[in-house]
Amino acid sequence: MIYPIVKFGNPVLETKAADVTEFGDELKKLVDDMFESMYEAKGVGLAAPQIGISKRLAVIDVTFKEDPNAKLVLANPEIIHTEGKQKQSEGCLSIPDFREDVTRPKIVTVRAQDINGKWYEKTGEDLLARAFLHETDHLNGKLYISHISALKRDLMKRKIRKLMKAGEW
Ligand code: NI
Repeated sequence: MIYPIVKFGNPVLETKAADVTEFGDELKKLVDDMFESMYEAKGVGLAAPQIGISKRLAVIDVTFKEDPNAKLVLANPEIIHTEGKQKQSEGCLSIPDFREDVTRPKIVTVRAQDINGKWYEKTGEDLLARAFLHETDHLNGKLYISHISALKRDLMKRKIRKLMKAGEW
């Protein structure tokens, strides 16, 4: 099932999500649906709050279907190590048609549970590092725009409010 993506302005995006506690068929179905919804929306990462489900669960595929082994499920993820710095343009499926440069660590290690509840650690660089941080932020009710200047953020929010008024958001 393809879920519609929740957009900026919906409080679920700014709410700390609840831990995943059940690792069964229901979670497997949800994860399948999240990958499907993410690909449909042309994204490389998706967090459960972005489909209106306030759970600490995210999916990532920075290869966008090219490498099946690159499909990652992150339940209850925590960032345990960061190193270096990278500045790249970043966007979010919940804030469509906007992008901004965001400075983030270059190498990131995450600790998370997989689809079966098994804990694992994984280190990513560049885009994968960025995805770990971006998706984990989502689960803490934080959006990438919290990492840009107040001036740029306010400008973006003003543009979004205009779109909302026009019924185009
Ligand atoms: Ni996002």
